[in-house]
Amino acid sequence: MDVDKKDSIASDSSEQVVNPWEVAAKDGGKIDYDKLIDQFGCQRLDDSLIDRVQRLTSRQPHVFLRRGVFFAHRDFNEVLDAYERGDKFYLYTGRGPSSEALHLGHLIPFMFTKYLQEAFKVPLVIQLTDDEKCMWKNLSVEESQRLARENAKDIIACGFDVTKTFIFSDFDYVGGAFYKNMVKVAKCVTLNKAMGIFGFSGEDHIGKLSFPPVQACLSVPAVPSFPSSFPHLFPGKDKLRCLIPCAIDQDPYFRMTRDVAPRLGYSKPALIESSFFPALQASLHAFKLLSILFILFSQGENGKMSASDPNSAIYVTDTAKEIKNKINRYAFSGGQDSIEKHREIGANLEVDIPVKYLSFFLDDDTELEHIKKEYGEGRMLTGEVKKRLTEVLTEMVERHRMARAAVTDEMVDAFMAVRPLPSMFE
Ligand code: TYM
Ligand code: TRP
Repeated sequence: MDVDKKDSIASDSSEQVVNPWEVAAKDGGKIDYDKLIDQFGCQRLDDSLIDRVQRLTSRQPHVFLRRGVFFAHRDFNEVLDAYERGDKFYLYTGRGPSSEALHLGHLIPFMFTKYLQEAFKVPLVIQLTDDEKCMWKNLSVEESQRLARENAKDIIACGFDVTKTFIFSDFDYVGGAFYKNMVKVAKCVTLNKAMGIFGFSGEDHIGKLSFPPVQACLSVPAVPSFPSSFPHLFPGKDKLRCLIPCAIDQDPYFRMTRDVAPRLGYSKPALIESSFFPALQASLHAFKLLSILFILFSQGENGKMSASDPNSAIYVTDTAKEIKNKINRYAFSGGQDSIEKHREIGANLEVDIPVKYLSFFLDDDTELEHIKKEYGEGRMLTGEVKKRLTEVLTEMVERHRMARAAVTDEMVDAFMAVRPLPSMFE
């Protein structure tokens, strides 16, 4: 059954907007993920699928599955059906290298992809769309390429297996079989379709659309979904299925890809999609504009952690002191504004950012439940929850920092070398 909705993204400003360039909830509130599933036409990742993952991999499902961080999918069930019959698949994910340092939100798909690679024993391709960011962020070609290599170090630090992983930069790799697929895809996408899927409107300046390399950029993320784009990895394996882990902002690219795949005689890629790791608080610009009223009535969680506002995001390069300060000063609290009131009615966990962050990164299910109960019923205070979160994130960032420091230029070259991966399915 094909449940993909075509041309259905909302670009009306009264609706929530989610696409690769913009994530904005309606009226500054929370993203409505149920509505997004509906709007995009993807499927909910339900408990029966998670149980199946557990059975097939003989290990406890990743915390991002258990807690519903990855909440939507397209055809993940078909990939599991095939896996059960002994047909493997390959993983594909990516990063648009627009900044030096990744923030914690960027790590989510990579941490999860590493788990999938280990649990299913499958190969992985990681695309660095340096061309995309050069075009959209006005970076020079050289700067985009430099950032791609720097970001590759952070990605490698997540622990990927070099015998099963190929990382490539578009500037270096596009050509040959990959370029042929790019042109095939581009020929299948009309201007109307691109406008609908990517939320462009007639009001957008023509530079966004008519500049031919930009059109190419729209089709570039599609192409790694097809095994024939990697003749050094998958020769003669044109039927190998592709599974793409990403946050749901990337869905428009792959709606387009799934739309054109059958016309090219290719399988549609499957997707497994996460919600957004939220910003510490609603954007500081909004704070400035709407002053104190906004603080009083703001709904806490809002959109996604984004790289543009340094105080709204925690970066993998932040020091322990910076992490502590950001959490204490900026993490939106659902606690009450006096101790008496807090003891009486407890924290509003729905809007509380420290609890939200712990639900992504505190592995221990029992401890998380304990914190939620104690804090939600007013026995635990915001300060204590923030302290625990500071410990968890400092430890994680420190581990990442050490792993990244151990990544040499030779290792980056090894991951990025165009080479066969003979033991990629073992
Ligand atoms: P980029 O660099 O914007 O983001 C990299 C990955 O991180 C995810 N992400 C987040 N996840 C959770 N919470 C957040 N706050 C958050 N912010 C970003 C993104 O969804 C993405 O998975 N066009 C892409 C590069 C790309 C790609 C792909 C990504 C090319 N092919 C295939 C995923 C799958 C980009 O600029 O990602
Ligand atoms: N929001 C606070 C909390 O949950 C409650 C609080 C208000 C508070 N004023 C305080 C706690 C002064 C300590 C000191 O922790």
